[in-house]
Amino acid sequence: MHRVGLVLILVVISFTSTAQFITHGPVIGAVTDSSARMYLRTTIPNAQLTLELVADDPFSIPFKVSASPVPRNDSSVVLGIEQLSSNTEYHYRIFVNQKPDTIAGSFRTFPAVGEKGEFTFVTGSCQETENMKVFDVMPLHNPYFLMHTGDYTYPDYQIAPDYSSTWDGMALSYRKRYDEKEMKYMLRSVPIDYVYDDNDYVGGSGGRFCKNDWKAHKENGRVVNEMFAPEFPPFWRRNTIKGYDEFFPHYPLVDTSEGIYHSFKFGNAEFFVIDRNSAKDRPNKDGFVYDEKKKKWRWDPPEGYALFGKKQMDWLKKSLKESDADWKFIVSGVPLNGACEKLIHAGVKIQNMSMKGFYGFHMAWGFSQYWAGFPEERNDFMQFLEDNDINDVIVISGDTHHNVMDDGSNAGLPELNASGLSVTGTELAYYLKLIGTFTFQYRMKKIWNQGGNGLGTKNLKNAFGKVSIVNDDYVELSIIDEDNAVISSFQVPHSSKK
Ligand SMILES: [Fe+2]
Repeated sequence: MHRVGLVLILVVISFTSTAQFITHGPVIGAVTDSSARMYLRTTIPNAQLTLELVADDPFSIPFKVSASPVPRNDSSVVLGIEQLSSNTEYHYRIFVNQKPDTIAGSFRTFPAVGEKGEFTFVTGSCQETENMKVFDVMPLHNPYFLMHTGDYTYPDYQIAPDYSSTWDGMALSYRKRYDEKEMKYMLRSVPIDYVYDDNDYVGGSGGRFCKNDWKAHKENGRVVNEMFAPEFPPFWRRNTIKGYDEFFPHYPLVDTSEGIYHSFKFGNAEFFVIDRNSAKDRPNKDGFVYDEKKKKWRWDPPEGYALFGKKQMDWLKKSLKESDADWKFIVSGVPLNGACEKLIHAGVKIQNMSMKGFYGFHMAWGFSQYWAGFPEERNDFMQFLEDNDINDVIVISGDTHHNVMDDGSNAGLPELNASGLSVTGTELAYYLKLIGTFTFQYRMKKIWNQGGNGLGTKNLKNAFGKVSIVNDDYVELSIIDEDNAVISSFQVPHSSKK
């Protein structure tokens, strides 16, 4: 029977005798050139979930994968789908106790490992408003997947600051992620990989042991800056890592006692996704020292002060050294740009400045949480790349609530910081530029030189990053806004072509 006829019949049958049994999902993740995983949730008791898949070619035979929802996991399940062909579109539909569900869709497997071609993915972080337009635009670019770099909703205030203290709270936080308007429909056909950041981790810029906070107030005309590190019970962190492990269709995790860092291959590229929260041992305030005499803070990170930690860094170094991919992407919830150190120094310089609720020290505090705030660890890593002649490394990052880029001449490595999928404002770079000009402290062009929200444009719309890998010729990094306009774009040539 001709292929189109078969799909048509399947669609007609599915519409005439279907119901909505699936409450959350499908969410497709851990895609490779031969496999994938799919998250599904149903509240039908003792349900048997069956996924029927058929490849988008005339000769393929439908095959099925079945599983039962796990009661202790909020009656959800992550199905493993194996023995798929590379770079192939698979159509799927779902049965619950043999009854077809209304939900049907399709997804594409990754190109074969090492395969060269023109492959696109999208990326972004931070979604906390009703405006979900970016998720209508992303599919127009035919991405193989979305690399989400965190703040995938804000459970630490949208649910409760201690949402991670109970398994129900954790389960609810994933239902919330998978209930996101527009996005939930996109996820039926666009696979996703994800690394949490702070608000969707334990919350409050949390690390391994404590949250981190800063407050400022005026006292006798002088600005007083205070930093706090409230500890949380260890099981909050364990719940958060376990929640990711059970409720997200993730790639194999390297060491869940240390965090959720992992890697995966995509054609002639390899991705190294690092976790900036779970292994951060020391509170953020440890990067600063108070000078009683001068009554002000100095930025002076102590020896061994690290963001990602030795175990994770050793894994990253070893993996990069062993990688034979043409392109290596490091994916982080926060910027790895070394030039952000200028913003820490500037914030310390203007720590007594305050204007309309803005406090100068906020810059030092904010940017000290990024990798620039951990120079010993960062410099050691950059030296490692140089010593081992590791090239063609590109950084994808989030957290900042704006979308900006650098070609590496300032950041150290080419970096696409795409963070502002659905946020209240993306003016950060615009204001930083003003402050830099008025305080003569720095120039934004010497931090992010390839444009973005408020850099070389007044476009302050929500946006996402688009990355197109073109063989081993170049990678094009672009920022696309919620109305599908290009805010900025540039190409990173491969080292073999320079
Ligand atoms: Fe955020």
